[in-house]
Amino acid sequence: MLANKTIVLGVTGGIAAYKAADLASKLTQAGAKVRVIMTKSALEFITPLTFEGITGNAVITDMFQTTAEHRINHVALSEVADAIVIAPATANIIAKIACGIADDMLTCTVLVTKAPIIVSPAMHANMYENSITQENIAKLKIRGFTIIEPEVGRLASGGYGVGRLPDTEVIIGTIQQVFGKNGDLKGKRIVVTAGGTREALDPVRYISNHSSGKMGYAVAEAARDRGAKVTLITTPTALAIPTGVETIKVQSAKQMRDTVVKATAKADALIMAAAVADYRPKTTAKQKIKKGAGDLTLELVKTPDIISEVKGKFLKIGFAAETQDLVANAKKKLTNKALDMIVANDVTSEGSGFGADTSKVTLINKGGKQEDLPLMTKREVADKILDRVGKLLGEKGK
Ligand code: CTP
Repeated sequence: MLANKTIVLGVTGGIAAYKAADLASKLTQAGAKVRVIMTKSALEFITPLTFEGITGNAVITDMFQTTAEHRINHVALSEVADAIVIAPATANIIAKIACGIADDMLTCTVLVTKAPIIVSPAMHANMYENSITQENIAKLKIRGFTIIEPEVGRLASGGYGVGRLPDTEVIIGTIQQVFGKNGDLKGKRIVVTAGGTREALDPVRYISNHSSGKMGYAVAEAARDRGAKVTLITTPTALAIPTGVETIKVQSAKQMRDTVVKATAKADALIMAAAVADYRPKTTAKQKIKKGAGDLTLELVKTPDIISEVKGKFLKIGFAAETQDLVANAKKKLTNKALDMIVANDVTSEGSGFGADTSKVTLINKGGKQEDLPLMTKREVADKILDRVGKLLGEKGK
């Protein structure tokens, strides 16, 4: 997704400038070509050497600088850019851009480029909330800039408020979303479930399973990066909430069912990666169950089978985590649950178990078309699933 993309990273003079080094590093690691432009005041906070070392490219700090690469000027960079990202963006740079001022390399490049521009403001809360800054930001939004809302937290001034530069993952997620806007799933509404449901026994205990949520999150992010409008319905997991994805948190199978029913009302596809508990305790004790003298027997009752119950014209994609007879069991589920496709995963195979970052799966369509995929990352599996979802939606004339 980011591989071979040229990203012009504009760094301006705020205390968060040091975080831009991490951003440059992660983008470079993801295969992007990062070309950094620093404003004069950014040089007070961090040196060009840091970015040159990280990106392997010369850093532009001066409009009239001549470098080994003769073509480096505001026109050349604006033309090669797939996106321009300004992080951190000060109130000053935002004001200049909003007024069309072009008095340094960054503002000139912004004015010349046709590439999408992402601006991540970071400043003192009062500066950010000032109506002048807000009006300038509103102007940029109207002109199609993507603005990443700053986060609330401790500010460099010692105070607390809105104005912190978000984590690198949030900025990268936004860049990916911008690149994916015209992807093959553009405008499609995709509902994804993730994680293992929790069925409460009492206020402190629950029954659950080993699902990490990684597969569902990978599908949600991949769908977002292909232009889909994604709703992720997730149980509590250790994973970061994906940027640009509507995320709804649930606990039990029943809550997940109710949320899925609502979310799929206008959906094109439901991808049920969640490991839904098949049984829940018949009663949930109001108070903590105390240890008695003897053993304890729990009575369990069935939970709703969500993917079988939920009705609609959308595609239904299920998962089958199996420990034996992988394909036969998956095919049974495909038929019994009236699915369009099932992703069969042998959780006992090497590198394919719970919590792993990789998976070895077999995709089986309703018509019987079966494809054994080699071991690959969950993100790669997600894209393989979405390749098929895109095709199936096309066949349905959606
Ligand atoms: N599923 C569901 N609701 C349930 C149980 C499962 O929607 N109550 C969905 C899962 O999200 C998955 C598919 O059905 O996409 C298959 O889940 P799995 O647990 O493998 O199947 P079960 O029907 O529970 O069968 P078993 O546990 O006997 O293997």
